Amino acid sequence: MKMAARQLEAELLDELPASAPEAIHSRGDLRRINALMGNARWLASTAKELKVPAPKTILELASGDGVQLLRLLERTGWRPEQLILIDQQPVVTEETSKELQQHCSALSIVAADVFAWLNADDTPAVDLITTNLFLHHFADERLRDLLGLIAAKAEAFIACEPERSGFAYFSTRLLGLIGCNQVTRHDAAISVRAGFQGDELARLWPKDVAWQVIERQRGLFSHCLGARKKTDQGTRAS
Ligand SMILES: C[S@@+](CC[C@H](N)C(=O)[O-])C[C@H]1O[C@@H](n2cnc3c(N)ncnc32)[C@H](O)[C@@H]1O
Repeated sequence: MKMAARQLEAELLDELPASAPEAIHSRGDLRRINALMGNARWLASTAKELKVPAPKTILELASGDGVQLLRLLERTGWRPEQLILIDQQPVVTEETSKELQQHCSALSIVAADVFAWLNADDTPAVDLITTNLFLHHFADERLRDLLGLIAAKAEAFIACEPERSGFAYFSTRLLGLIGCNQVTRHDAAISVRAGFQGDELARLWPKDVAWQVIERQRGLFSHCLGARKKTDQGTRAS
């Protein structure tokens, strides 16, 4: 079921202080929604389809509580040397931090705006950039800039976003049944309306033959973009 063009509205979670009870509840809702959507699975399968080699350095944009990245590491078995998590409001608990450290040699959790961080000259390039439920925050022109910054810093990129469909939109109305609060129900509906269909993200990726790019709906509710830099041989060996 197709929906009209993307519509953007501010999300409540982005505006609330991290310590607000309704924000804390909504972060818990997000963990359940990510599990229901199967987003760690879709990110892993996107990386697998692109034959992304096990990354030594991973940067997660808008990492929130870090649990989604943890699930991706558990699923892929990746053991990077360095993990960098960026969010304007990083809310990674000590417990999640310890679990992430079991999957890597060095963990950095940074409070920053992703544009500022990616634009800075002194931030390192990485093997893989990941993000989950973040790209839909931006209108196409801003998104084109963001994807350009990502392509300049990474060998590969995987993103999981809401599929913009009537079915997904209808499903957000049922989130109260699994205990999601008003913030989550509001943000989920907005996120679907700002989500993606078809090749809407790939069309905003830098026009560069050096990249292999894939994009499609995954499962019932998710929509993934994957991009990997090609080498002379096609793509780097796994
Ligand atoms: C819908 S939540 C997703 C969080 C996490 N990726 C997940 O799946 O649980 C969106 C996240 O984007 C962060 N965010 C929004 N705008 C940002 C920006 N410009 N720079 C960094 N983080 C941002 C918010 O703080 C929030 O944690």
